[in-house]
Amino acid sequence: MRAGESRLAYDGLAAFVGPKLITEVPGPEALAWIERDRKVTSPSLPRAYPFVPKRGAGSIVEDVDGNIFLDLNAGIAVTSTGHCHPRVVDAIDRQAAELLHYSASDFYLPVYAEVCERLDQVAPFGDRPARSFLTNSGTEAVEAAIKLARFATGRQYLIGMYKSFHGRSMGSVTLTASKAKYRTNFGPMLPSVYHTFYGDFDYLDEVVFKRLVSPTEVAAIVVESWLGEGGYVLPPDGWFTYLRELCDLHGILLVCDEVQSGMGRSGKMWAIEHEGVEPDVLISGKGIASGLPLGAMIAREDLMVWDLGSHGSTYGGSPLSCAAALATFDVIRDEDLLGNAERVGSVLLDGLREMKTRHPLIREVRGKAMWIGLGFADHQVAEAIEHVAFRRGMLMLSCGDDAVRISPPLVFREDQAREALRIFEEVVAEVEAGT
Ligand SMILES: Cc1ncc(COP(=O)(O)O)c(C=O)c1O
Repeated sequence: MRAGESRLAYDGLAAFVGPKLITEVPGPEALAWIERDRKVTSPSLPRAYPFVPKRGAGSIVEDVDGNIFLDLNAGIAVTSTGHCHPRVVDAIDRQAAELLHYSASDFYLPVYAEVCERLDQVAPFGDRPARSFLTNSGTEAVEAAIKLARFATGRQYLIGMYKSFHGRSMGSVTLTASKAKYRTNFGPMLPSVYHTFYGDFDYLDEVVFKRLVSPTEVAAIVVESWLGEGGYVLPPDGWFTYLRELCDLHGILLVCDEVQSGMGRSGKMWAIEHEGVEPDVLISGKGIASGLPLGAMIAREDLMVWDLGSHGSTYGGSPLSCAAALATFDVIRDEDLLGNAERVGSVLLDGLREMKTRHPLIREVRGKAMWIGLGFADHQVAEAIEHVAFRRGMLMLSCGDDAVRISPPLVFREDQAREALRIFEEVVAEVEAGT
């Protein structure tokens, strides 16, 4: 497709306000693909429901049968600027025609440096400068943070949070404590990791530091600024101040994982900016490159003390991903997507809170901007909600023990939000009726 045609195709699809289904879902093409997929893909892949996307624009995705879906998942909090934003696609096209690869670990890539400059500009470290290490994924950025924290402090212990999720490689999965299945049959985990409770003010100090490990041996507390897979939960007021004070007292690094909560989803660039503290290290991923694989471990300059050659990556910060990230930063700024996340998120939150008064099935509505968690009685109800929503053309995803998350692209429009609310009320009514 030539540039003009692809722009027309984008505009046509992105203009949809809500779903338009032309078959039952999954349709015949989708079923055929699922059948092929089942024979050859790893059975470990945790597919949520039988959705088979073909193309996307903004907050709309069309499946292989031509059904139009409203995407409240953003590809699991990834497509921050929406699916296939023309400026992101143009940037990738231009970069692809120029240079696909040269390892930034061994040589100098201008786009890599430019992304690190942007991260320095937005890093939540006050006036202090930042340096970044770029990766292909969130989990690799977590691994980089673990290694840097150990290197910089000379200490080996790490503290993670129950219910948290940091990825599936060995260090990240050791910090992860949301579901036992992520660890089952994979042990032993990384040694020297303890957990405490997200949002708890006593356990870390009273139990972990008193009975299990001296805080003088702890390199880092690794924490999601806002808890994502664990249920889209916000921390209690003052909790991060408490963590920051503990870290300062004992010389521990505060590492905030913003793979899911960052890049504007909270209405600010980073969710930790709502909590009034500055972390020492920040981890980004998902939305940073609007869908291309990129992660970043961003640290205060004075902590980036590791030796030449001590960490690197062949592909991390690939030219294509970096070009997409630069365009993502530009679009977030030029289209005021932080403001949009706040405004349209409020429409969703207000509507959902009002709906909760009519539907006791909804136990809780929590969140801010485009980070919304809905609490239900149990996981079965949450799963029923996501499945019924899918059948009605709306993509949502369960999380935590009993929740459904709403994390649309940051370009989600008010007309789409109102349509999403209308459909969601039908979904809730259907689940309530037990159909
Ligand atoms: C908070 C958080 N950290 C890390 C990760 C891992 O990212 P990736 O799947 O890109 O490795 C995720 C993924 O969902 C996440 O939500």
